[in-house]
Amino acid sequence: MSKVKVFRLAYVDFSAKNAGAMVDYYTHTMGYRITEEKDGVTYLSNGLDHHNIVITPAEEKAIRRYGYQLDGKLTLEEVQEQLHSKGIASSMKIDAKPGISRFLELQDPAGNVLDIFTEMEQTAIGFGNSGIVPLKLGHIAFYAKNFKETIKFYQEVLNFDFTDQIGIDFANFLTCNTDHHVINIVASEETRLHHIAFQLKDASHQYASSDLLAKHGRPVLWGPSRHTAGHNIATYHHDPEENVVELYTDMDVFISELGIFEPRPWHEMLPQKPKVWEALSAWGTEFELDLANV
Ligand SMILES: [Fe+2]
Repeated sequence: MSKVKVFRLAYVDFSAKNAGAMVDYYTHTMGYRITEEKDGVTYLSNGLDHHNIVITPAEEKAIRRYGYQLDGKLTLEEVQEQLHSKGIASSMKIDAKPGISRFLELQDPAGNVLDIFTEMEQTAIGFGNSGIVPLKLGHIAFYAKNFKETIKFYQEVLNFDFTDQIGIDFANFLTCNTDHHVINIVASEETRLHHIAFQLKDASHQYASSDLLAKHGRPVLWGPSRHTAGHNIATYHHDPEENVVELYTDMDVFISELGIFEPRPWHEMLPQKPKVWEALSAWGTEFELDLANV
């Protein structure tokens, strides 16, 4: 029987203290479009999917709920059976939220809630025509308690590949597709967001985004610089709730069959294989914001 396999991070669900400000930021600054508002929750899309960003009003800000899409080779019932055989509890949700008629809800060992599903409604609202308008939601980095068990969970239960590390056991990069990382698990005593990242088109999109952020009163806090792990050119800024948001281009492409990254002129090694890195910036640049500790 096929293995349980997710292949993309489809959405993140923000708990927002000031939901109005977050919706304003995602529509006007990030260029996402609202597809639905239900029970005070706002669903936003970047083109095709019913939602990629969800803003849920809450007492405290957080992202603790993520939506991952499965490859569809197994039915949700079969997935649930396999999870059960590994001692992982999940509950089947039917018509529980807009856009996804059926999903399994479960928790990772860090305490994040995961919605895993095979199909999402393709609303096809189109890409925004103002604001940054990224290509896609790229990855999520989170501090995790039980980080070793959490890494093992993503590898062994959801079939992620381990790519790089920064510092032994500090920042742990995993992917479920060809992107260098879809999640970055940072060792910690508590589970909370480190940053959320969106892929941009190219370098000119980076410049234009930095100009637009400045106009919207959101200065770039770190970057632009090329990372070591992943080699993405990144900038970081704050959303209205001071969640750290990364915008990047040029991320390494992982070839899982070979266990290497597609060769690039800026790689330190040929072939470039997963390894432990020491620094964050391949250019050696330091910035006022300590990105290792946000
Ligand atoms: Fe990142």
